[in-house]
Amino acid sequence: MASAMRNYQRTALFPALIFFFLMAMISCTSEPPTPKDLSKENLIPKPVSLTATGSSFRLTENTGIYVQTPSDGSNELTQLGQYLADLLKPATGFPLPVNATREAPSAGNIYLALSAGDAELGEEGYELEVTESLVKLSANTPAGLFRGLQTIRQLLPPAIESKKVQPGPWEIASGAIRDYPAYVHRGAMLDVSRHFFGVDDVKRYIDLLAFYKLNVLHLHLSDDQGWRIEIKSWPNLTAHGGSTEVGGGEGGYYTQEQYADIVQYAQARYITLIPEIDMPGHTNAALASYAVLNCDGKATELYTGIEVGFSTLCTDKDTTYKFIDDVIRELSALTPGPYIHIGGDESHVTRKDDYIYFINKVQDIVRSHGKQMIGWDEITLASLNPGSVAQFWANADNAKAAVEQGVKLIMSPAKKTYLDMQYDSTTALGLHWAAYVEVDSAYIWDPATYVKGVSKENILGVESPLWTETITNMDEIEYMAFPRLAGHAEIGWTPAAERNWEEYKVRLGRHEARFNAMRVAFYPSPLIPWEEEASGDQ
Ligand code: ACM
Repeated sequence: MASAMRNYQRTALFPALIFFFLMAMISCTSEPPTPKDLSKENLIPKPVSLTATGSSFRLTENTGIYVQTPSDGSNELTQLGQYLADLLKPATGFPLPVNATREAPSAGNIYLALSAGDAELGEEGYELEVTESLVKLSANTPAGLFRGLQTIRQLLPPAIESKKVQPGPWEIASGAIRDYPAYVHRGAMLDVSRHFFGVDDVKRYIDLLAFYKLNVLHLHLSDDQGWRIEIKSWPNLTAHGGSTEVGGGEGGYYTQEQYADIVQYAQARYITLIPEIDMPGHTNAALASYAVLNCDGKATELYTGIEVGFSTLCTDKDTTYKFIDDVIRELSALTPGPYIHIGGDESHVTRKDDYIYFINKVQDIVRSHGKQMIGWDEITLASLNPGSVAQFWANADNAKAAVEQGVKLIMSPAKKTYLDMQYDSTTALGLHWAAYVEVDSAYIWDPATYVKGVSKENILGVESPLWTETITNMDEIEYMAFPRLAGHAEIGWTPAAERNWEEYKVRLGRHEARFNAMRVAFYPSPLIPWEEEASGDQ
């Protein structure tokens, strides 16, 4: 009886075992990891170092995003996890729940963790390890994790940028990346004075900067044609000075609440806002708004043309410095970052001695509000504090003067980084007073050798200004910025020895599908081998 029973059990067990074995086979064979080569992916900026292991991680409807439980109770990592989930949800349609955990999660998940103490990674570096079972991103800081998230994003197929559910599969090539930036300052400047751009446009630009690991947005908030930031103690600056723009359109300005919203949006992407109030030249909008700012006590007319160099604040009036103190005080209160930009360029109708006196005084005002001054390279005529920064755009002697004064430089050579320069003589938008700047020219230069006497240790970083005399809407901003800004981002991040135009242009060409998925109105330069379908898949 006992043996008959055992036989019965054996015969009943056998088909069940076969069944489970077959099920296991099916579940393994239906979705084997796809071989993928991490070294053939098209990352911009190119990472510092990378090891490929030939397989892939697959994102599925069961994937969760796990963040290391913070020791200090902060929810910053959870917010980063949520940022990633929000990026990946629309195209995948997966729920991607975000959870805190004390240990590395089980297979099939994404894990974000802080691991302080890796000096080489610094403030913004990260390490990414991708296996068939886990994506692990680690960094010293949340900012480093944020930069690494952009790498994860670029390792997924371009369709990940779609706002509608796409078929997938959503695979990330396996291997390891160890990456950190060459320069601490990697920025873009947007002129919202010549033409005004609203909060939504600025936020979209911030998102595009974040995608390429930039960390600074410099807003040119005032010029002859318009004053764009509310200053509560001088309300006519915006009421009158913000009421027009180049060509006579209606202009506009940011209320302090709107500006604070932009600052916060940028902060969530680890991007620092640098506000610029240009002075003593480029000040007609202020001079038209307040008669008292003029040496002759008469307000000027509003200006909607594109000439430069005709306006100046009255440098020997006490009211001028009271005005500047009020403006810098209100602006500093809106600025969590360390810098206030005071312009200082093209003050052609300010006497040289007056200009020097003025910049020295304004530097003290900026410092009295706990900030460091940045100015265009002409400010090196003055006596600069070591914490002040000069932004090189045209004059090599000024750049050398900065080095002599022990002042750091932001490199924005007009012939390479000015995004309003036309690509070639057929470009309908933009100007060409500095040069025609095709995509190759914008890429083929090195900040550390561009000006004789200025080397890497003198340089804070690279910034790409977009002046908007001829630029009126977001599509036009994107057309002039992309793809050149992607190349500038690589110059700021990737070591010079790792950069090569022939290799870069192929990688950039494979970003076409990403630009299209993100609806970026980029310039399809004939120098680039564009590849709509390419995604780096093998
Ligand atoms: C500048 O282009 N005037 C800084």
